[in-house]
Amino acid sequence: MLEITSLKKVYEDGTLAVDDLNLRVEAGETFVLLGANGAGKTSTIMLILGFTEPTSGTVTVKGVDVQKDPLAAKKLIAYVSENVTLYGNFTAKQNMEFFAKLSGRKDVTDDEYRAVFKRVGMADNAYQRRVSGFSKGMRQRLGIAIAILKNAELIVLDEPTSGLDPKGGFEFLEIIGGLRAENKAVFMSSHDIFRAKAIADRVGIMRSGRLLEVLDRQVLETRDLQQVYLESMAQIAAGATSANIDD
Ligand SMILES: Nc1ncnc2c1ncn2[C@@H]1O[C@H](COP(=O)(O)OP(=O)(O)OP(=O)(O)O)[C@@H](O)[C@H]1O
Ligand SMILES: [Mg+2]
Repeated sequence: MLEITSLKKVYEDGTLAVDDLNLRVEAGETFVLLGANGAGKTSTIMLILGFTEPTSGTVTVKGVDVQKDPLAAKKLIAYVSENVTLYGNFTAKQNMEFFAKLSGRKDVTDDEYRAVFKRVGMADNAYQRRVSGFSKGMRQRLGIAIAILKNAELIVLDEPTSGLDPKGGFEFLEIIGGLRAENKAVFMSSHDIFRAKAIADRVGIMRSGRLLEVLDRQVLETRDLQQVYLESMAQIAAGATSANIDD
């Protein structure tokens, strides 16, 4: 489904944000990219979406190159950003309608809107309310609803749980579980080791643009993810020190 090959991003100011990334995510698989601030998670997501141009390497979704054929690629991908962009003067329903139509879905019935709204844990009485009064968590849920409505095969989320309270975070796990059951591929970034472990089929640990480790379900069930994460960070820190001395 998603295939990332030898992907590298060096920004104009010389910052190396993504360094030789190779990764595949299959349909029905949830992949969580863990990493500290500045690790390169958002940069990776921008490259997957085709929003920024790689320095080298490729990203394809179902064989479609996101740089060469951006319009075809965009149809296959739904994106939920950290700060979901919504129209404050529109109601929740109107926002869903607007974005569903924008993504080419003109056939959505009121029942389907309501069902998706419910699926992301939104209360009925918020359906016809203006979004300007919504909390961050509500906006995030609505963003996920919009992504579900697009019915894309790959769903990309940048720190989707950052604004959610514990109950919201738990419900989010269920929503992602539902997407997996529909055979969607999910690629998300997170700082949250606990939720990553609960939700992911595989977890990647990124630091300084490099994917240090990829842990599958079996490893996640047998090893302490926090420990593995901290060890990866420590090893790389030690490596970086010796590299600096060699310089
Ligand atoms: N537009 C840009 N121009 C130059 N450098 C950038 C740009 N965007 C990001 N960077 C740098 O690239 C590196 C990776 O940043 P990125 O935002 O991808 O990390 P992140 O893992 O998403 O971090 P966070 O957890 O804080 O969201 C950082 O050093 C950052 O300062
Ligand atoms: Mg980020």
